[in-house]
Amino acid sequence: MKATAIANANIALVKYWGKRDSELILPMNSSISMTCGGLTTTTTVEFSEKFREDSVTINDEELTKEKDAVTAYLDFIRQKTGIKSKAKMVSSSNFPMAAGLASSASGFAALALAASKAAGLKLDERELSILARRGSGSASRSIPEGFVEWHRGKKEDGLDSFAESIVEANHWPEFRMITTIVTESKKKTSSRAGMSQTVKTSPYYEGWLKTVEADLDTVRAGIRKKDFSSVGLVAEQNCLKMHATMITTKPAIIYWKPATMEIINSVLSWRNEGVECYFTIDAGPNVKVMCLGMNEKEIRKRLEMLDGVKKTIVCKPGEGAHITQDHLF
Ligand code: PMV
Repeated sequence: MKATAIANANIALVKYWGKRDSELILPMNSSISMTCGGLTTTTTVEFSEKFREDSVTINDEELTKEKDAVTAYLDFIRQKTGIKSKAKMVSSSNFPMAAGLASSASGFAALALAASKAAGLKLDERELSILARRGSGSASRSIPEGFVEWHRGKKEDGLDSFAESIVEANHWPEFRMITTIVTESKKKTSSRAGMSQTVKTSPYYEGWLKTVEADLDTVRAGIRKKDFSSVGLVAEQNCLKMHATMITTKPAIIYWKPATMEIINSVLSWRNEGVECYFTIDAGPNVKVMCLGMNEKEIRKRLEMLDGVKKTIVCKPGEGAHITQDHLF
């Protein structure tokens, strides 16, 4: 009854922003992401009579208050399987949590796989993606490999709202996502709260929904053809549209810091010089810069010279969530 799973984070090229059902975590729109090789979370779960209560340890820290989200998720697995015993969960990520770096995506994807396996469930990729979605929407996209689309789905029960690979990880090995870390501090507004406030109060949310289908079509086709310019341009525009809806909520949600602007402006001017790169930003201040392998070294060097950049991490399209025998306890 013990299992360990590894899942990568993912970064969206066409963002998920807004739910149509917050209980089942069903999105307003489909989204497309890259599974990021190297930004990993490893999680071990054991269900056993020997535990008197659930315990949750993340990055060497045993959680007390904040363990509720994990415990609720374990309850959900227990409900599905009829397991009554308590669980021990230990998880470790190799990148900062809650700074717009999709830690909830790799976290819940690894938890979904480890907990379902420890509970004796045998799920295929689609079922796992649906299960991960119930932890956090973007986690559904960390189950498959490579470039991934999470289908919005139409059904009320959410059984058609799952993610699958558009292409495998080795389809476009030249694609790079360079994550810049400008701060490791926790953000004030979670994506869950932020998207709900946006759907309710931003006058521009309707415009977001009207244009997202076209972005999905362009990015999906661009990934298949390996057309970097069209994928990069539309991904950057899509991110700006999402942030425009956040900025115009009441009260405003502004995740950007001065360093965020410094990177945005630098990317735009490097591109004008002919060094092709594009940016994308999630619900946090850290910026991810997309480029091709041939420009990786130069762009990374330039990013690391900027005042606000503390660290960069380079990712290629990566593998999907999988089981390992290297347990954390
Ligand atoms: O799955 P959540 O609740 O962490 O929301 C993710 C939202 C964004 O990162 C901003 C966009 C996305 O599609 O990943």
